[in-house]
Amino acid sequence: MGNLLHQLTEQASLQDVIAVFYEKMLLDNRIQHLFLNVDVANLQRKQHWFFTTLMLGTAQGTAEYLGKSHRNLVHKKGMTDEHFDAAMECLQAALDTYKVSKSVSSQIMDAAISLKSAVLTGK
Ligand code: HEM
Repeated sequence: MGNLLHQLTEQASLQDVIAVFYEKMLLDNRIQHLFLNVDVANLQRKQHWFFTTLMLGTAQGTAEYLGKSHRNLVHKKGMTDEHFDAAMECLQAALDTYKVSKSVSSQIMDAAISLKSAVLTGK
C-alpha cells in the first residue's frame, strides 16, 4: 500500500477529499447526530493524519486506537455497522467528487472498510 497516498495526491488533494467527506457526513441524516458536540475541524485534522499513515502503511496500533476513539459512539450513541456503511458511502462520494480513478479509489475504500470491526469493536 506504500504508494497509495502518492497515487491519490496525483489526482486530488487529501485535504480536499477529507473536507468533502465531512461535509457529506454532516449533511447525511443517517449519521449527522453522531457528530453533535464534536469539534469537527479538530477531527478532520486527526483524520488527515490517520489517512496519511494508513495509506503510507505506517499506521500502528490501529485497531485498539480506533476502538477507543469510537467506544463512546458505540456504547452511548448507538453507532452500528449501518452508520459505518453510510459513512463509507460519503467517502466514496467524496472521492467521486474529485474524479479519483476507480483503481485508486477502490484501494482506499478497501483500506477504510477493512477497519470496520476495529472502529466498532476495537478488534
Ligand atoms: C475507517 C473508518 C474510520 C476512521 C479511520 C476513523 C478515524 C477517527 C479518528 C482518527 C478519530 C479521532 C480519535 C482521537 O480523538 O484521537 C475519530 C473520532 C471520531 N469518529 Fe471516526 N473514524 C472512522 C469511522 C467513523 C464513523 C463511521 C463515524 C460515524 C458515522 C465516525 C465518527 C467519529 C466521531 C464522531 C469521532 C469523535 C469522537 C469524540 O471526540 O468523542 N468515525 N475517528
